[in-house]
Amino acid sequence: MKTVYLKRGGTLPLVLVFVIGLAASGAFAQVLSMEDIYQKTCAHCHGIKGEGVGDKKAPPLNTLPQNALSYELFNLTAVTQSSGSDHEIMEHNQRKIEEKGMRYHPDDMARYIYTTFNPLAKLESRGYHEYSAEEVYAQMCAKCHGDKAQGDPDKKGPPLNTYALHELEMELLSLKEGFQSSGGHHALMAETLKRIENRGMAYHPKDMATYIYFHFNEKGKK
Ligand code: HEC
Ligand code: HEC
Repeated sequence: MKTVYLKRGGTLPLVLVFVIGLAASGAFAQVLSMEDIYQKTCAHCHGIKGEGVGDKKAPPLNTLPQNALSYELFNLTAVTQSSGSDHEIMEHNQRKIEEKGMRYHPDDMARYIYTTFNPLAKLESRGYHEYSAEEVYAQMCAKCHGDKAQGDPDKKGPPLNTYALHELEMELLSLKEGFQSSGGHHALMAETLKRIENRGMAYHPKDMATYIYFHFNEKGKK
């Protein structure tokens, strides 16, 4: 058992005032889980599963990515953001929520809402993870197209560092949509892509085109 000795001196009264202040504001009254807080103070507007309640004009929360939730909640809990707008409804409630001692950290609430209500989180826990274009390229594309998109003759992967940005976008879009999958030149890539997507490494063609162009094309690097 550790004993904490408070130093004598000028700081003690301040500490006491602070502690008493917190107790009076109710922050010490109960320790509530995010679930308690959500179900008691958010669910009647946002739904018990974060699905949103039309009557209350409260948007669904179960479709937002975790970082978007963190961001929104951070804004909502920051009292400074009161310039007109829809956000006033929430902010108003936010203040009431805090007065009731239901204070929470935006990141904790975002994690709770995301992992409990967003179906994507369940995929993620089964090994799905959103990869950046850079990660996907390094892990899935470099072995055939070269680590600098210079092409790899052994694997028959053509160079990708010579294409203009819009050409890459077109190629990647048509590969994704399987336009050319009927035999032909792109059959192999279309098949490869399907396997890549099945491994949860889906990417947006534009993101991949941008990544390849600006990292590997001499013109794009300038
Ligand atoms: C009285 C109803 C009401 C309550 C209670 C309420 N909200 Fe909201 N919330 C809204 C409305 C309406 C909006 C949309 C307008 C706005 O942004 O103010 C919103 C917006 C949000 C947003 C932004 C969503 C987006 O797509 O921009 C988040 C996140 C959020 N609420 C979380 C919460 C959490 C967490 C709680 C509980 C601590 C809560 N809300 C309690 C009505 C409510
Ligand atoms: C197993 C080897 C292999 C992998 C892995 C692979 N590719 Fe390919 N890729 C090819 C081959 C071979 C071609 C040319 C023939 C074809 O399109 O089927 C090609 C064609 C392309 C083309 C069209 C360019 C052209 O000149 O026809 C693009 C764009 C492309 N790949 C991008 C990618 C991206 C992005 C990835 C990773 C997500 C990737 N490839 C992974 C082998 C591969």
